[in-house]
Amino acid sequence: MSTSTNEAARTVLRDNDRGGYTVPNGRVYPFQWNWDSAFVALGFDTFDRDRAWREIETLMMGQWEDGFVPHIIFWKEDDGYFPGPAVWDTHRTPMTSGITQPPVAASMLKRIWQSACLTGEQDVYSDRAKGLVEKLFQWHLWFARNRDFEGRGVVVAVHPWETGRDNSPEWDAPAAAVDTSQVGEYQRRDITHVDTKMRPTKADYDRFVALVQFGRGLNWDHAAIGATSPFRVADVGMSMMLLRANRDLRWLASELGLDDIATTLKDLIDRAVAGIDYLWDPALNAWCSRDTITGRFSGHITSTSFLSFYAGLHDQTRNEHSIAHLARIAAKTGYLVPSLDVDDPKFDLLRYWRGPVWSVVNYMIGQGLMEAGFVDWSERVRADTLRLIEVSGFYEAFSPVDGAPSGGDTFSWTAAIWLALQETGAA
Ligand code: GLC
Repeated sequence: MSTSTNEAARTVLRDNDRGGYTVPNGRVYPFQWNWDSAFVALGFDTFDRDRAWREIETLMMGQWEDGFVPHIIFWKEDDGYFPGPAVWDTHRTPMTSGITQPPVAASMLKRIWQSACLTGEQDVYSDRAKGLVEKLFQWHLWFARNRDFEGRGVVVAVHPWETGRDNSPEWDAPAAAVDTSQVGEYQRRDITHVDTKMRPTKADYDRFVALVQFGRGLNWDHAAIGATSPFRVADVGMSMMLLRANRDLRWLASELGLDDIATTLKDLIDRAVAGIDYLWDPALNAWCSRDTITGRFSGHITSTSFLSFYAGLHDQTRNEHSIAHLARIAAKTGYLVPSLDVDDPKFDLLRYWRGPVWSVVNYMIGQGLMEAGFVDWSERVRADTLRLIEVSGFYEAFSPVDGAPSGGDTFSWTAAIWLALQETGAA
């Protein structure tokens, strides 16, 4: 089974390769997406190392001079997607969106660098690694300057799409405050490709569009947007991923002799470790996102609540609470880790980020659990991820109850995670 599935996974990546960058899925998402590309590099690394590096390099070609790395690079026009480049109106070459996405690229770069070292190819890749570390460092500094307005050591998203968990109920209350009265007419494209019951509602979409218009109205001045956006939510997922990515980037910088970068990153890590408490919800005994405008916790336990292990946080009591939540959820689902707690009233089997399992989030959760010594839980998450793909194929996401597919098929990052999990033998 696995050998032919491996070949099928490689075929997905080759078919979605547009020459130097990979589309998440040719029909629904015809451009280069930020965190998708980072995970895709792991997949390519198992059979075409140069191509893996190229994926992260093309992503960083979309970087702006202030360090920002966009969530989408529109390398070619495609009118099958809304909102396209004309709506974002960022005046960039290549054309890009104006918001970012979870900064996982440094962590994936660490992984492909280590894999190059294992086969004695560090000399072949060290210059490319240095170039990427410098660019990623600028991006991480951009986060500190523009997505942490109050200097808390967390990541404050200014659009639900920045979090990568576009339609999570964590954004429902904060987004409800966004004025949609001036949005006007627009035509969605997502619902022409994917079943509407899996996609966000019209009211949600209006808010997404209003926030794009807000950024455009400020001419994509990131500092101004970070300080004044009507949506400013400290995202637990991005905060944990950036903390991890800063640790991984610091490790890479030290390995490559970039000591000044390593020193600055240590300060950012210390600040995050000191500030991350802001996201511990004592009412739920869980890590949750929090609206920085109202100070309210989201009140939702999501798959990213379990990324504290991946971020390297070691508070024993909190770890115990987190594992107790995981065990409770595991007892009620066929497959870990649902994107929303199964006991949550908003739990929805197939709707985006309100229930389905994403293999990329599982990959990070599994890795963190392994490193924190929760080996059985890590194995369980890894085994569930593989089983989901075996049962349903390389779908975008899966129902945590019976593994039924959700979203688009032949998905690049799902294929990449399959290949990455074969290599490690552990999450
Ligand atoms: C959806 C997901 C986002 C992902 C994109 C492309 O918008 O929510 O995380 O990057 O699809 O796969």
